[in-house]
Amino acid sequence: MQSEFRQRRDRFLDKIGNGTAILRSAPTAVMHNDVEYNFRQDSNFFYLTGFNEADCVAVFAPWHETHKFVLFVQPKDRDKETWSGYRIGVEAAKEVYGADEAYPIAELTKKLPQYVEKADRIYYHMGRDRSFNDRIIALWQRCMATYEKKWIGPIAIEDPGPLLYPLRQVKSESELELMRKAVEIAAESHNLALQLRKPGMYEYELQAEMEHLFRLRGGWGAAYPSIVASGANSCILHYTENDRQMQDGELLLVDAGCSYGYYNSDITRTYPVGNKFTEEQRILYELVLKAQLDAIAQLQPGSAWNQFHETAVRTIVEGLMALGLLQGDIEEIIKEEKYKPFFMHGTGHWLGLDVHDSGVRQIGETWQTFQPGHVVTVEPGIYIRPDFKPFEGQPEVPERWRGIGIRIEDDVLVTPTGNEILTAAVPKSLEAMER
Ligand code: GLY
Ligand code: MN
Ligand code: MN
Repeated sequence: MQSEFRQRRDRFLDKIGNGTAILRSAPTAVMHNDVEYNFRQDSNFFYLTGFNEADCVAVFAPWHETHKFVLFVQPKDRDKETWSGYRIGVEAAKEVYGADEAYPIAELTKKLPQYVEKADRIYYHMGRDRSFNDRIIALWQRCMATYEKKWIGPIAIEDPGPLLYPLRQVKSESELELMRKAVEIAAESHNLALQLRKPGMYEYELQAEMEHLFRLRGGWGAAYPSIVASGANSCILHYTENDRQMQDGELLLVDAGCSYGYYNSDITRTYPVGNKFTEEQRILYELVLKAQLDAIAQLQPGSAWNQFHETAVRTIVEGLMALGLLQGDIEEIIKEEKYKPFFMHGTGHWLGLDVHDSGVRQIGETWQTFQPGHVVTVEPGIYIRPDFKPFEGQPEVPERWRGIGIRIEDDVLVTPTGNEILTAAVPKSLEAMER
């Protein structure tokens, strides 16, 4: 795996040219008082280094004769390590993570100038930590103070995102292996939930059963707060209270994914709490399923990012019009987004190290086209809140349609010949949702 991190760094170093990139590891996050959440490395930092410690900095200086990749790390400290775990330390950082040079993090201010002074720009992401941003800006100002004399130095600070996103966007075989594992565990959990759900159960009981499997199978846990939404809760996109008792006759929307070895899955299924859909639930379920299948069919090398979303929108609008829930001219409804009270989110997002992964959707007016190795979610939905408000000039929605929220979400890999639904092990046919 170290060789893959090295390859990624080489590709990144190539793109930096005569600049210097400074990447900061994730900070530790406080849960309460002096208790911290489990540490999770920043995805960009991890992607390039594989290094899993907080309060570190990585420097990439391709133009430097010998130190092209430098790590600033927390030094070994017996006392601190007794409380919060082993640190790799300065010496081993070179050996284990392939750094050309490594220093204790306390030497950052002293050592950083030599890696920046002669660069033509600094690549740095302005993070939430203003005081760290200020340190980089101060360093930049110092370098520029002599620029007029020598015309050497970083004339700009740029975000490294545009260099990194296209790299992270195409998944390698080893990344896909981890994603398949994250999918496999989540699929098993969803299939268990499908069997266990029944009237009278609390949403959190099902959540617990699913998340139990996430850990039991070696995953880190939920990739995001699991959504187990019964009845009208299914109309709240990121409902996470999960504290309601489910009733017969209602729908249950379960959106849960697993995190495994830094990679994530993201799956949604919607089914009746009891045995059968009601008439209205069934009609809308079939419509969302059709929209999802139509959208997935669009995912192939060369198709533009907006195509699968636009396809899902059209199918949903046609269906809602046929039901009398939308009326007027279809092109106008789509153009003016009059469907949005029913379907207010995008049809998908990149998936990978982050659940909402970095990646390029469009550059200016030009849409990104899909390539083999891209992984996206496909997750159209229809949500009719109990207090549903139609778009101006659109009909009121009769009571019997209200309180229904449906989303169906799969994770899809674009392949050289089309696509592969990574989450195919979780059924979604109407018949499979009923019992
Ligand atoms: N579960 C978050 C999402 O579907 O985007
Ligand atoms: Mn998603
Ligand atoms: Mn989801």
